[in-house]
Amino acid sequence: MDVFRPLINSHWAFRLFLALPAIAMLWRFGLMAGGTGQLLSASGEWAARLLIVTLAVTPLRMLFHQFGLAQHLPMWLFKRRRDLGLAAFLYAALHLATYVARQSNLHLILYEMRYIEYIMGWIAITSMLIIAVISNDWSVHHLGTKWKLLQRLVYVSAVAAFLHWLWIKLDDVPVLVHFAPLAALEAFRLWYNFARPAGPRHPS
Ligand code: HEM
Repeated sequence: MDVFRPLINSHWAFRLFLALPAIAMLWRFGLMAGGTGQLLSASGEWAARLLIVTLAVTPLRMLFHQFGLAQHLPMWLFKRRRDLGLAAFLYAALHLATYVARQSNLHLILYEMRYIEYIMGWIAITSMLIIAVISNDWSVHHLGTKWKLLQRLVYVSAVAAFLHWLWIKLDDVPVLVHFAPLAALEAFRLWYNFARPAGPRHPS
């Protein structure tokens, strides 16, 4: 196990790991002539998955803490939360770029912006962009309390991404399979913060 430790601890190895789905989908798109539809679907799904994992990190820490489990895994994820969030945004950017390339018509893109499922997509990506822009040390130090407030936009992204996926595909099963664990974790987090009998201080 010790042989793998430098790899497990390397942030660059983790970033490469996060890039693997993008490499696979671009490979399929470029070399195996997979259509833009496939790239659009795959990038959207990975953006949503990584957003969900980013949001799950804090409630997971609380869950492990509540049940007295070792904090190694949640701490490991916690230290990589910024990379996870940035990767989610980059997949969403690829998704949007694919959509723009597929439509290749500004009028059509503007026309579709009137539909609620597209409005949700735009809300999700705009809030993800704001979070990505302020995800550097300079912003953390200079924005002070506003930084924490802006970070809350991640919930706006998640709700908008959920509704975007639900309404654009009109198939609830894959959407619920992805978002139900997050909803359960967030419900646990609310209980942990507000209804739990007083216990040791929680990890925040
Ligand atoms: C301006 C922003 C966006 C636009 C214009 C857009 C557009 C689209 C379109 C046209 C589809 C339908 C693809 C198809 O026909 O199969 C789609 C699907 C999807 N989008 Fe977006 N999207 C946007 C933002 C986002 C964001 C930010 C996320 C996630 C964080 C996201 C996640 C998804 C997912 C999961 C699907 C379903 C993929 C599948 O299973 O086929 N989208 N989007």
